[in-house]
Amino acid sequence: MSPEEMKAAAGKAAMAHVREGMRLGIGTGSTAEAFIAHLAEAVGDGLDITGVPTSERTARLCVEMGIRLESLDDVDELDLTVDGADEIDPNLNLIKGAGGALLREKIVAHASKRMIVIADDSKVVDRLGRFPLPIEVNAFGVETTRRAVEAVARDHGATGDIAIRTARKGESIVTDGGHLIVDASFGHISDPQALACALNAIPGVVENGLFLSMASLAIVAGETGVRELTV
Ligand code: A5P
Repeated sequence: MSPEEMKAAAGKAAMAHVREGMRLGIGTGSTAEAFIAHLAEAVGDGLDITGVPTSERTARLCVEMGIRLESLDDVDELDLTVDGADEIDPNLNLIKGAGGALLREKIVAHASKRMIVIADDSKVVDRLGRFPLPIEVNAFGVETTRRAVEAVARDHGATGDIAIRTARKGESIVTDGGHLIVDASFGHISDPQALACALNAIPGVVENGLFLSMASLAIVAGETGVRELTV
Protein backbone atom coordinates (compact mmCIF):
# COMPACT_ATOMS: atom_id res chain seq x y z
CA MET A 1 0.00 0.00 0.00
CA SER A 2 1.22 3.51 -0.79
CA PRO A 3 1.11 6.16 1.99
CA GLU A 4 -2.00 7.63 0.31
CA GLU A 5 -3.70 4.23 0.28
CA MET A 6 -2.86 3.78 3.97
CA LYS A 7 -4.35 7.16 4.83
CA ALA A 8 -7.46 6.31 2.81
CA ALA A 9 -7.75 2.96 4.61
CA ALA A 10 -7.44 4.59 8.06
CA GLY A 11 -9.98 7.26 7.09
CA LYS A 12 -12.42 4.66 5.84
CA ALA A 13 -12.03 2.52 8.99
CA ALA A 14 -12.86 5.54 11.16
CA MET A 15 -16.27 5.73 9.46
CA ALA A 16 -17.28 2.60 11.43
CA HIS A 17 -17.40 4.85 14.53
CA VAL A 18 -19.56 7.58 12.98
CA ARG A 19 -23.28 7.37 13.80
CA GLU A 20 -26.38 9.13 12.54
CA GLY A 21 -26.97 12.47 14.28
CA MET A 22 -23.44 12.80 15.65
CA ARG A 23 -21.75 16.12 16.27
CA LEU A 24 -18.30 15.51 14.84
CA GLY A 25 -14.98 17.29 15.28
CA ILE A 26 -13.23 17.12 11.92
CA GLY A 27 -9.44 17.15 11.89
CA THR A 28 -6.80 18.77 9.72
CA GLY A 29 -4.07 17.27 7.53
CA SER A 30 -3.79 14.76 4.73
CA THR A 31 -5.06 11.78 6.78
CA ALA A 32 -8.00 13.77 8.12
CA GLU A 33 -8.74 14.76 4.52
CA ALA A 34 -8.92 11.09 3.59
CA PHE A 35 -11.52 10.70 6.35
CA ILE A 36 -13.40 13.77 5.08
CA ALA A 37 -13.66 12.17 1.63
CA HIS A 38 -15.33 9.08 3.13
CA LEU A 39 -17.51 11.21 5.39
CA ALA A 40 -18.67 13.30 2.42
CA GLU A 41 -19.56 10.16 0.53
CA ALA A 42 -21.68 8.93 3.46
CA VAL A 43 -23.34 12.35 3.78
CA GLY A 44 -24.11 12.18 0.06
CA ASP A 45 -25.78 8.83 0.75
CA GLY A 46 -27.97 10.40 3.45
CA LEU A 47 -25.94 10.30 6.69
CA ASP A 48 -27.01 13.22 8.89
CA ILE A 49 -24.14 14.65 10.97
CA THR A 50 -22.99 18.09 12.03
CA GLY A 51 -19.30 18.90 11.69
CA VAL A 52 -17.05 21.30 13.57
CA PRO A 53 -13.83 21.90 11.59
CA THR A 54 -10.40 22.26 13.22
CA SER A 55 -9.05 24.69 10.62
CA GLU A 56 -10.12 27.07 7.87
CA ARG A 57 -8.72 24.60 5.32
CA THR A 58 -10.85 21.77 6.68
CA ALA A 59 -13.87 24.08 6.79
CA ARG A 60 -13.44 25.00 3.11
CA LEU A 61 -13.04 21.36 2.15
CA CYS A 62 -16.13 20.29 4.10
CA VAL A 63 -18.23 23.04 2.53
CA GLU A 64 -17.03 22.06 -0.96
CA MET A 65 -17.92 18.44 -0.23
CA GLY A 66 -21.38 19.12 1.18
CA ILE A 67 -20.71 18.44 4.89
CA ARG A 68 -22.86 20.66 7.12
CA LEU A 69 -20.80 22.70 9.61
CA GLU A 70 -21.60 24.61 12.76
CA SER A 71 -19.44 26.66 15.08
CA LEU A 72 -18.15 24.95 18.21
CA ASP A 73 -19.99 27.41 20.42
CA ASP A 74 -23.33 26.52 18.82
CA VAL A 75 -22.75 22.78 19.19
CA ASP A 76 -20.98 22.88 22.58
CA GLU A 77 -20.17 19.23 23.30
CA LEU A 78 -19.08 16.99 20.44
CA ASP A 79 -19.67 13.22 20.28
CA LEU A 80 -16.46 12.37 18.50
CA THR A 81 -13.40 13.98 16.93
CA VAL A 82 -11.43 12.22 14.19
CA ASP A 83 -8.00 13.69 13.47
CA GLY A 84 -4.51 12.76 12.29
CA ALA A 85 -1.23 13.00 14.20
CA ASP A 86 2.49 13.42 13.65
CA GLU A 87 3.41 10.87 16.33
CA ILE A 88 1.48 8.35 18.43
CA ASP A 89 3.07 6.66 21.45
CA PRO A 90 1.92 3.39 23.12
CA ASN A 91 -0.31 5.36 25.55
CA LEU A 92 -1.90 7.16 22.58
CA ASN A 93 -0.23 10.39 23.58
CA LEU A 94 0.29 12.44 20.44
CA ILE A 95 2.39 15.12 18.82
CA LYS A 96 0.25 17.25 16.52
CA GLY A 97 0.61 20.51 14.65
CA ALA A 98 2.72 19.92 11.55
CA GLY A 99 -0.14 21.55 9.66
CA GLY A 100 -0.20 24.49 12.07
CA ALA A 101 -3.72 23.76 13.32
CA LEU A 102 -2.85 22.46 16.79
CA LEU A 103 -4.72 25.10 18.80
CA ARG A 104 -8.11 24.57 17.15
CA GLU A 105 -7.43 20.84 17.02
CA LYS A 106 -6.86 20.76 20.77
CA ILE A 107 -9.87 22.96 21.56
CA VAL A 108 -12.12 20.73 19.44
CA ALA A 109 -10.68 17.46 20.80
CA HIS A 110 -11.06 18.74 24.37
CA ALA A 111 -14.73 19.54 23.67
CA SER A 112 -15.32 15.97 22.43
CA LYS A 113 -16.49 12.97 24.42
CA ARG A 114 -14.09 10.85 22.38
CA MET A 115 -11.09 11.35 20.08
CA ILE A 116 -10.01 8.85 17.45
CA VAL A 117 -6.62 9.37 15.83
CA ILE A 118 -6.03 8.04 12.32
CA ALA A 119 -2.61 7.51 10.80
CA ASP A 120 -0.32 5.36 8.75
CA ASP A 121 2.26 3.14 10.41
CA SER A 122 5.07 5.68 10.14
CA LYS A 123 3.46 7.78 12.90
CA VAL A 124 3.65 5.08 15.59
CA VAL A 125 6.67 5.53 17.89
CA ASP A 126 7.90 4.02 21.17
CA ARG A 127 8.53 7.44 22.62
CA LEU A 128 7.45 10.94 21.51
CA GLY A 129 9.98 13.44 20.25
CA ARG A 130 11.48 12.23 17.01
CA PHE A 131 9.15 14.68 15.25
CA PRO A 132 9.79 18.36 16.19
CA LEU A 133 7.16 19.53 18.67
CA PRO A 134 5.05 22.40 17.27
CA ILE A 135 4.28 25.14 19.79
CA GLU A 136 1.82 27.92 18.94
CA VAL A 137 3.03 31.32 20.20
CA ASN A 138 1.78 34.89 20.20
CA ALA A 139 3.42 37.09 17.57
CA PHE A 140 4.21 39.81 20.14
CA GLY A 141 7.75 39.34 21.44
CA VAL A 142 8.12 36.15 19.48
CA GLU A 143 11.91 36.00 19.74
CA THR A 144 11.69 36.45 23.53
CA THR A 145 9.14 33.66 23.68
CA ARG A 146 11.26 31.46 21.40
CA ARG A 147 14.22 31.91 23.78
CA ALA A 148 12.02 31.03 26.77
CA VAL A 149 10.78 27.94 24.91
CA GLU A 150 14.39 27.03 24.13
CA ALA A 151 15.37 27.26 27.81
CA VAL A 152 12.47 25.01 28.83
CA ALA A 153 13.17 22.62 25.97
CA ARG A 154 16.88 22.31 26.90
CA ASP A 155 15.85 21.64 30.54
CA HIS A 156 13.72 18.82 29.19
CA GLY A 157 16.47 17.29 27.09
CA ALA A 158 16.01 18.96 23.70
CA THR A 159 19.03 18.42 21.50
CA GLY A 160 18.01 20.04 18.22
CA ASP A 161 16.84 23.37 16.82
CA ILE A 162 14.15 25.49 18.45
CA ALA A 163 13.03 27.63 15.51
CA ILE A 164 10.19 29.84 14.36
CA ARG A 165 8.49 28.05 11.47
CA THR A 166 8.87 29.82 8.14
CA ALA A 167 7.35 29.30 4.72
CA ARG A 168 9.35 28.91 1.53
CA LYS A 169 10.08 32.63 1.16
CA GLY A 170 11.37 32.82 4.71
CA GLU A 171 8.24 34.47 6.13
CA SER A 172 6.79 33.15 9.38
CA ILE A 173 3.82 30.80 9.06
CA VAL A 174 0.70 32.42 10.54
CA THR A 175 -1.96 30.13 12.04
CA ASP A 176 -5.73 30.48 11.69
CA GLY A 177 -5.67 32.22 15.07
CA GLY A 178 -3.07 34.77 13.86
CA HIS A 179 -0.25 33.20 15.88
CA LEU A 180 3.18 31.82 14.95
CA ILE A 181 4.64 28.34 15.40
CA VAL A 182 7.92 27.42 17.10
CA ASP A 183 9.16 23.90 16.26
CA ALA A 184 11.24 22.28 18.99
CA SER A 185 13.43 19.28 18.14
CA PHE A 186 13.85 17.01 21.14
CA GLY A 187 15.11 13.67 19.93
CA HIS A 188 12.93 12.14 22.59
CA ILE A 189 10.63 13.59 25.24
CA SER A 190 11.13 11.85 28.57
CA ASP A 191 8.28 13.48 30.53
CA PRO A 192 5.60 14.83 28.15
CA GLN A 193 3.28 15.94 30.98
CA ALA A 194 5.95 18.01 32.73
CA LEU A 195 7.07 19.48 29.41
CA ALA A 196 3.51 20.43 28.42
CA CYS A 197 2.99 22.22 31.77
CA ALA A 198 6.34 24.04 31.58
CA LEU A 199 5.71 25.22 28.01
CA ASN A 200 2.20 26.46 28.74
CA ALA A 201 3.53 28.39 31.75
CA ILE A 202 5.47 30.69 29.37
CA PRO A 203 3.24 33.77 28.85
CA GLY A 204 3.81 33.99 25.07
CA VAL A 205 2.95 30.33 24.51
CA VAL A 206 -0.64 29.90 23.35
CA GLU A 207 -0.64 26.06 23.28
CA ASN A 208 1.71 23.17 22.67
CA GLY A 209 1.30 20.24 20.29
CA LEU A 210 1.34 17.50 22.95
CA PHE A 211 -2.10 15.85 23.06
CA LEU A 212 -1.88 13.83 26.27
CA SER A 213 -4.62 11.40 27.36
CA MET A 214 -6.97 12.78 24.71
CA ALA A 215 -7.21 9.97 22.15
CA SER A 216 -8.83 6.70 23.25
CA LEU A 217 -8.40 4.84 19.97
CA ALA A 218 -5.82 4.91 17.18
CA ILE A 219 -6.65 3.48 13.77
CA VAL A 220 -3.35 2.72 12.09
CA ALA A 221 -2.96 1.55 8.51
CA GLY A 222 0.11 -0.41 7.44
CA GLU A 223 1.31 -2.74 4.70
CA THR A 224 -0.71 -5.63 6.11
CA GLY A 225 -3.95 -3.77 6.77
CA VAL A 226 -5.59 -1.64 9.43
CA ARG A 227 -5.16 -2.22 13.15
CA GLU A 228 -6.68 -0.54 16.19
CA LEU A 229 -4.62 0.54 19.21
CA THR A 230 -6.24 1.32 22.55
CA VAL A 231 -4.96 2.24 26.00
C1 A5P B 1 -2.36 19.57 11.67
O1 A5P B 1 -1.99 20.70 12.39
C2 A5P B 1 -1.73 18.36 12.26
O2 A5P B 1 -1.93 18.19 13.62
C3 A5P B 1 -2.10 17.10 11.49
O3 A5P B 1 -3.23 16.48 12.02
C4 A5P B 1 -0.94 16.19 11.58
O4 A5P B 1 0.20 16.93 11.17
C5 A5P B 1 -1.08 14.97 10.68
O5 A5P B 1 -1.07 15.38 9.36
P1 A5P B 1 -0.98 14.34 8.18
O6 A5P B 1 -2.15 13.44 8.30
O7 A5P B 1 -1.00 15.18 6.94
O8 A5P B 1 0.33 13.62 8.35
